[in-house]
Amino acid sequence: LISAVIDKYLYSMRFSDETLLDIMQQFRRELAKGLGRDTNPTAALKMLPTFVRSIPDGSEKGDFIALDLGGSNFRILRVKVSHEKKQTVQMESQIYDTPEDIIHGSGTRLFDHVAECLGDFMEKQNIKDKKLPVGFTFSFPCQQTKLDEGFLITWTKRFKAGGVEGMDVVKLLNKAIKKRGDYDADIMAVVNDTVGTMMTCGFDDQRCEVGIIIGTGTNACYMEELRNIDLVEGDEGRMCVNTEWGAFGDDGRLEDIRTEFDREIDRGSINPGKQLFEKMVSGMYMGELVRLILVKMAREGLVFEGRITPELLTKGKFETKHISAIEKSKEGLSKAREILTRLGVEPSTDDFSLVSQVCTVVSFRSANLIAAALAGILMRLKENKGVARLRTTVGIDGSLYKMHPQYARRLHKAVRRLVPDTDVRFLLSESGSGKGAAMVTAVAYRLAEHSR
Ligand code: BG6
Ligand code: GLC
Repeated sequence: LISAVIDKYLYSMRFSDETLLDIMQQFRRELAKGLGRDTNPTAALKMLPTFVRSIPDGSEKGDFIALDLGGSNFRILRVKVSHEKKQTVQMESQIYDTPEDIIHGSGTRLFDHVAECLGDFMEKQNIKDKKLPVGFTFSFPCQQTKLDEGFLITWTKRFKAGGVEGMDVVKLLNKAIKKRGDYDADIMAVVNDTVGTMMTCGFDDQRCEVGIIIGTGTNACYMEELRNIDLVEGDEGRMCVNTEWGAFGDDGRLEDIRTEFDREIDRGSINPGKQLFEKMVSGMYMGELVRLILVKMAREGLVFEGRITPELLTKGKFETKHISAIEKSKEGLSKAREILTRLGVEPSTDDFSLVSQVCTVVSFRSANLIAAALAGILMRLKENKGVARLRTTVGIDGSLYKMHPQYARRLHKAVRRLVPDTDVRFLLSESGSGKGAAMVTAVAYRLAEHSR
């Protein structure tokens, strides 16, 4: 009975491989569209040049600061890369709060806050009198014409600080630091979190040429041949491109697979009509998707004996971390009881089973959709290299990927099915994107020293 209910309700959230391959092909076309000079302005995928031209080569060294803003945590790190016999990295970090009123307030306040936290960090590290090079991981879409500049195109996820869109975030941060006057900093690079992740993983595995994030939001970057990037001069070598794949579907391309629940999520979001792919798959929205499905099922008397509590009707009450907890095979059931009790419902055994199946359908759909998009990138890499068999490494980070008990396995399996002639290694970034940002900064610093 339960699976019949689920089948009826959620059949449009389950995809055959045929559908996934179709999505993969569409995604590939979108990649090409975003790379073309004439087609880019109307493309859903922005395909942003990052001015990062290679992964770490082992020669990086120095003492750096990395700022990491835009995921669920705002982190400041000190990254020391030394070169005695072997390259080693030493890191210290601190997490700072980013309260709601700051990320939704004025841009000036947001950057004052970042500058204040950086000041505090430097004070604690006893380096306020030094002018260390800073790498800034800023996990939002930025237009760049060089490494140390990034014009925010649009806020995504939870952020919406006023007066920042269209501005260079490096300038805004520099201004906030100058205004304080109690320390100096040299912001050498602004990098997307996907790029930071690719570089972090590239430090350990030279084959790494893709970086993906599956967390609050989702996104991917990869190394593209420069000759294919119309928006950047030059034909030799490669450059990392930030796809901003969260916006896949913003031109209507995913309408066939979006459900009424996806539309409702979008309508209630702070950026309606935008980041439609992200809203179907990432951690900021998945829990809410499950809640909306449960509300509808309860209204129709299919779950909780038709009882709807105020908690169940409250946006955000069911979180993605709850999906992860419920899908744990061992403690899943007792967790589900705890979580549902907090929602005020009195679940029966059947209700548990139903809720857990809803969670599985939603999280499985996410892994499948990400697999289709990632398969599109891998196919492109394979074509660019002109090889019969692609051997590559994908660096990954993000809370959903890390915390969900089965997500990684499902994703890996689906990718391997969709792109058969590839040996792909998935490498979890153990130290976030900060280390990678420091690597980018190290290269930029060396080049700047040379030209001084
Ligand atoms: C971290 C990175 O490890 O992962 C961040 O350092 C990134 O820059 C984050 O944004 C993504 O994960 P989440 O789940 O916190 O959004
Ligand atoms: C959002 C941002 C993107 C970021 C991703 C993961 O999609 O737009 O820049 O990489 O979230 O954090």
